[in-house]
Amino acid sequence: MPDPATDAISNLLHEERRFAPPADLAAHANVQAEAYDRAAADRLGFWAEQADRLDWGRRWDQVLDWTNPPFAKWFVGGTINAAYNCVDRHVAAGRGDKVAFHWVGEPADDTRTITYAELKDDVCRATNALIDLGVRKGDRVAIYMPMIPEVAVAMLACARLGAPHTVVFGGFSSEALASRLEDCGATFVITADGGYRRGSASALKPAVDEACVKTGDLVRHVLVVRRTGQDVAWHDGRDVWWHDAVGSASTEHTPEMHDSEHPLYVMYTSGTTGKPKGILHTTGGYLVGTSFTHWAVFDLKPDTDVYWCTADVGWVTGHSYMVYGPLANGVTQVMYEGTPDSPHKGRWWEIIQDYGVTIFYTAPTAIRTFMKWGRDLPDGFDMSSLRLLGSVGEPINPEAYMWYREVIGGNNCPIVDTWWQTETGQIMISPLPGVTHGKPGSAMKGLPGVVAQVVNDEGVPVGNGSGGYLVLREPWPAMLRTLWGDDERFKETYWSRWAGMYFAGDGAKLDEDGDIWLLGRVDDVMNVSGHRLSTTEIESALVSHPKVAEAAVVGANDEMTGQAPCAFVILRESAGDGGADIVADLRAHVAKEIGAIAKPRQIMIVPELPKTRSGKIMRRLLKDIAEHREVGDVTTLADSTVMDLIKAKEGTSSGEE
Ligand code: PRX
Repeated sequence: MPDPATDAISNLLHEERRFAPPADLAAHANVQAEAYDRAAADRLGFWAEQADRLDWGRRWDQVLDWTNPPFAKWFVGGTINAAYNCVDRHVAAGRGDKVAFHWVGEPADDTRTITYAELKDDVCRATNALIDLGVRKGDRVAIYMPMIPEVAVAMLACARLGAPHTVVFGGFSSEALASRLEDCGATFVITADGGYRRGSASALKPAVDEACVKTGDLVRHVLVVRRTGQDVAWHDGRDVWWHDAVGSASTEHTPEMHDSEHPLYVMYTSGTTGKPKGILHTTGGYLVGTSFTHWAVFDLKPDTDVYWCTADVGWVTGHSYMVYGPLANGVTQVMYEGTPDSPHKGRWWEIIQDYGVTIFYTAPTAIRTFMKWGRDLPDGFDMSSLRLLGSVGEPINPEAYMWYREVIGGNNCPIVDTWWQTETGQIMISPLPGVTHGKPGSAMKGLPGVVAQVVNDEGVPVGNGSGGYLVLREPWPAMLRTLWGDDERFKETYWSRWAGMYFAGDGAKLDEDGDIWLLGRVDDVMNVSGHRLSTTEIESALVSHPKVAEAAVVGANDEMTGQAPCAFVILRESAGDGGADIVADLRAHVAKEIGAIAKPRQIMIVPELPKTRSGKIMRRLLKDIAEHREVGDVTTLADSTVMDLIKAKEGTSSGEE
């Protein structure tokens, strides 16, 4: 029996693949088409204009110093305070009563409304509390928190002080937290007893306690927000309650204007090796890049919009498009603590209805999940306040795009499919509402001031209708400045493939109109539910298990999550067949080493792995198996019978979930 909704969508897909910008939107769009030419003619002048939207302590002498590539300096000589720009200046301009956050906790009726004036007081209190605890400019502060207002307050207090923060996603394990603390030498941690997810309280503090043990005496103080009221172990002298330290602190604090290139934060992300990379963002350029793109891409009207980005603050989207970009623009936002299905599967739509959300930004993996749950759920709520939809994190498949447009946006809202990365800091490729035609599945083209191209193996730009690798040709304000403590790896990873080009790691093609379609990663990085994981990192986690001799991991296509990790494991001889629970044990082990999101969907215990004569694992062949395809060309294998051995195991020990 065909589903009429799906039929309608597939008809639409075939009839109309380009959506012209609505005329009324075009007339009032923040950024007009001529911005592309203006930026192309004078790129640095264009970025300087955007920088003028912010409040600077001292104006810069030079927009960009690119004399020592790839080490860029933006707004050289300028001084600025990110927290001042996100909070104080709105209050100073008489907008203190404007709501900064409508915060919605997961338990029903657990809500808070925080104005910009209240946020300013909270940030000043937290800053004073951090100073009292001994945090000084330049110290690194780790933040491991649920989605509660205090997480934004903590980040802004660090920014105000000039103490770079490193937010670690609350779903990561104590191991992952410890390795990040160690890598950036974080001496303070801000956390909570726990948070609410999927209808119950989960704990965070125990992982911090374990990470503190693993890192010796590195951590001097742990500041703990009481969110759930659950019992926590207490380390006198080290642990401090947020409500004691912050609650009693003064609301007076005069911010120092920091150098434009002062480090703002380090965000760890997976690369092609086992060790996550610490992406360093600095202050002035980052704030210019995020605030401008947030205003331009979402066509933000700060006086009337209610904006909601569903990303967790533990990822870069939560940094750029929940904290720094939107707050710098002074908009009212929604922040939601929990999962979309708690206490019912219409929770997100209910929130949109209750708060009159006008701009909504989420990931394709969420949209696919809602498609599976059916349109009756969103249809049960009034979402007519919505006027613009955004997508981020992975390519959006045309079916999901059409469903989003039709069912969530009521065929009324343009969709901005935004391509960017932890490294880019800001949106780089996206349609502009009112300006660009929308095509389901294409992020369209580089924003004004951004030079994005698709090149072939030799680094030569491809023509329309051809595919290759996505590169960025010119520096941009919010670009990463280096990898924390590893300039060489920064150069090697992003700038060494072709001279003068930033290699993004994504495949892409240009369509007949020259618009860009992103095709996914071309390296050993996979994208699971819009989150980056490295195959090598999961392999390292597997081989750290005492029963494992060798492991190979591939990212296999997955209908819901985009990609999912699939592992092929050779056990040590001493482990025999590993025992009945070996697959479950190994999955739990990966969760412990990295976090639950990294758990392989499937683990196959195999006798051998396919290797070339030089010993390189041919992951392409393993991917064929994981995606249930005919195995491709095996002629370069050292021993071509290996694939028969592996295939014989298929279905017997897969542990697929
Ligand atoms: O492969 C691209 C994919 O996500 C990668 C960046 O991941 P991360 O640093 O975790 O940042 C995610 C949120 C910005 C990219 O290399 N990606 C992100 N957005 C898109 C995308 N792929 C296709 N279309 C997008 N809109």
